[in-house]
This record gives sequence, C-alpha cells and structure tokens, in this order.
Amino acid sequence: MQIRRVSAEERPVTNLPLSAYAFFPSPVPSETLATQARDHVSYGAGNVTLIAEEAGRTVATVTAIPMRQNVRGRVYPMAGIASVSTHPLARRQGHIRALLPRLLGELRDDGHPISALYPFRSSFYQRFGYIGLPKPPTVSFSPADLAPLLRADLPGEIGWEHIRDGFDGYRGFVDHLLSRRHGFGRLPDHHAARLRDKVDRWLVTARVDGELVGALTYRISDHGADLIGDDLLTTGPLGRALLLQFFARHVDQVARVSVTVDPDEAPEQWLTDLTFVSESRVAFPMSAAPMARVLSIEALAGMPVGPGRVTVTVVDDPLIAGEYLLDGASGELGVSRVGATVPGARVPAATLTVPGLSGLVYGVLDPAELALRGLGTVPDDAAGELRGIFPHRRPYLMAQF
Ligand SMILES: CC(C)(COP(=O)(O)OP(=O)(O)OC[C@H]1O[C@@H](n2cnc3c(N)ncnc32)[C@H](O)[C@@H]1OP(=O)(O)O)[C@@H](O)C(=O)NCCC(=O)NCCS
Repeated sequence: MQIRRVSAEERPVTNLPLSAYAFFPSPVPSETLATQARDHVSYGAGNVTLIAEEAGRTVATVTAIPMRQNVRGRVYPMAGIASVSTHPLARRQGHIRALLPRLLGELRDDGHPISALYPFRSSFYQRFGYIGLPKPPTVSFSPADLAPLLRADLPGEIGWEHIRDGFDGYRGFVDHLLSRRHGFGRLPDHHAARLRDKVDRWLVTARVDGELVGALTYRISDHGADLIGDDLLTTGPLGRALLLQFFARHVDQVARVSVTVDPDEAPEQWLTDLTFVSESRVAFPMSAAPMARVLSIEALAGMPVGPGRVTVTVVDDPLIAGEYLLDGASGELGVSRVGATVPGARVPAATLTVPGLSGLVYGVLDPAELALRGLGTVPDDAAGELRGIFPHRRPYLMAQF
C-alpha cells in the first residue's frame, strides 16, 4: 500500500468516489456525479487530501480543511478532518490507521497545533487522540411567547436578506466572534463559499450604531410550521433581544422557532414566561458531538492559562508522546521538554493520554475524571496544578459555515 497527497484536480477520481459512496445517497445519475466533481474541486481547493493506493486503485482517503479555532482566547490554525473513508472491500485492514496519523503529522508540521472533527463514532477517533466537546443545544419555542418584545423599544436595527447578499458581512461577524469565544471555529473562505452559493438560507442581522451585534441564518419549513435557525450568533443580550423581537413578528406565520445556541446560553433568562425546550441530542453517525485534539504542545506555549507547575508524560501517541514541563506562573503557558529530572523543587507529575491532555486544554475535563475514563494517571498534587493551569471552560464549536 502506498500513501500520497493528491491535487484538487485528482480528487474527483481518487477521493470523491470513496467519500461520495460513504456520505451521499447513491447510486446517482451521471449528471449528479458531474456536479459533485465540480463542487469537489472548487469548494475543496485549499484542502489537503491523502489517499492510500493498492495496485493503482484508491482504497482509502482522508482530508484536512485548514481552519482556525479559538482555544482559551487565542486563535490557532486548526486541522478540520473530513472525508475519512475506506473502500467497502478494504475496510478493517488498517488503512485509516496508516493514513490519519500521517495527515495529522503533515498538518502539525505545517503549523496547525490543534485538530477538530465531527465523528461518525467517538470511540474510533479517541484511538487517534480526540476528546469529545459539548454539542451546542437547540432551543425551540413559540413566537407567541415573545409577545412582550413586540412593544419593547430596543436601540438597534434589523437587516434581512438572502445569505447570498449578506455573506461577506456574516463572515466578518464570524471572524469577530472567533477572536472572542473559546472553542469557536472558522471554515476557510473556499469552504464557506458553499453556503453562499448552494445553501438556501435567509440571513437576519442586528446592528447597533452600524456594528453587527447578532446574526442568524435560517429557513422557513412551511406556512404555519417552523422557522429553523442555524447558530444564533450574538455579542450579548442586546443582539439576542433584537433577534428575538424579529422572531416575535412571525407569530402568525410559524408555530415554532428553533435555533442552535452557545452551550453557555440560559434561555430561562431571555424572557419571563418563555416556554422552551432545550435539547442536545447525540447519536451516531448523524448527530455527533464534535471532538478535538492537540497536535503540538510546544506550539501552544503562550496560551492564556492559570497558575500551576506540573510535568506531564504524554503516552501512546506518534505525534506528541514525551515528557513536558508545563508552567502557568506568568499567566501564559510555558512548555519545555524535560529529561529524567526537573531542576529545583519536586514538581508534581501526571501521565496523560492525548485525549486526556486535549480534554484539559479544551477545558472539558477535570483532572479527577481522567483515571475514571482511562485517559491518564493524575495524583492529587498534579491534579491541583493541572486544574490551576487549565480551569474548566466550556468551548462553543460553531464551525458549520
Ligand atoms: C470508518 C472507516 C473510515 C474506518 O476505516 P478502516 O480503514 O476500516 O479503519 P482501520 O482498519 O484503519 O481501523 C482503525 C482502527 O479503528 C478501529 N475501527 C474500525 N472501524 C471502527 C468502528 N466502526 N468503530 C470503532 N472502531 C473502529 C479498528 O479496529 C482499528 O483499531 P486499532 O488500529 O486501534 O486496532 C470505514 O469503515 C468507512 O469508510 N466507513 C464509512 C464512512 C465513515 O463513516 N467515515 C467516517 C466519517 S467521520
């Protein structure tokens, strides 16, 4: 078996047949195949795709989308993994086991210290170092409950257009939130362009003094049915109230509004007497929570962290196994490789798998949970230091568009 990187032009005959079989309805007419091939080249231009070949035939493929993600207040290049698929006759023969670490290593060497993906099954990607992140909940409610907002005099303006027309402003707002919100992700322009060109969505925006404070892409399923929103993006309560007021004006048009929200949102506080359902449904393969991992610890030096000093031995990973001294005394993560002993006073020590380490960095795991989940060995003194360096923070991975 031979592994090689393929160009955008080669993808329609190497990567696409496998990923189309795995992820799209099939078989399809040849005109549909031709459209898929055109889209594959134009919207995937900046991606990195590796294939495994046997006797000139593609047997497996993996792709990385060069994205960006905020981790604890700093924005990093992030490798978004997609299109992981193996030929149906070549599955369970170790092809992805060979391809994925190779792709992650190439992206790491190319300056991506982190990676994220949506798994078909979490246990598969935990083997490759990934840990689960929160699934942003969907909140649904009746616009009738928003009636008090109809009379509210809110200091802002609403804009409404097709996403095609408001695309640049929407992307600018996503960029703004990327710089502010832990966990937020951003697709590259070539990928997001699919939203502009292909997806049928309205765009509603809220502005105060000309500045965007809220935005939502959405569609209406039918008269008397649903207003189905994507991620409700806001900079704070005023942006959210302006968008809720916009929904209130749909009371005679739709029975229900649903939007995906930041996991830190508390709809109980949006409005008194708001009846709502907030649900986060995780199921495989179609409704998974995202996952993420660290690809380079050294490249995270300088990340805003809390106080603490600990040595960690990272195990079972071809990319980052080794022993590191982590120091948060300055408020920014200090990282150095260590040998058998650390100079100075005894430093608490822990042994971590990469999912365990990644869970701490992303703020989703407490050190005390690692041993329970088989993700590391963390004595109490090391747990205290790690808790200080990586305090719990809930990431919001919005990376749809
Ligand atoms: C999922 C898929 C990509 C796996 O590819 P593969 O080439 O068969 O995987 P490998 O043989 O390299 O297996 C890698 C490891 O995962 C394990 N594994 C394989 N399939 C698994 C599954 N469905 N669930 C959990 N673990 C699995 C293997 O046992 C192996 O473990 P090990 O290396 O630690 O011993 C392939 O079955 C496929 O194309 N499925 C349809 C498309 C799909 O769901 N893609 C993933 C999208 S996120």
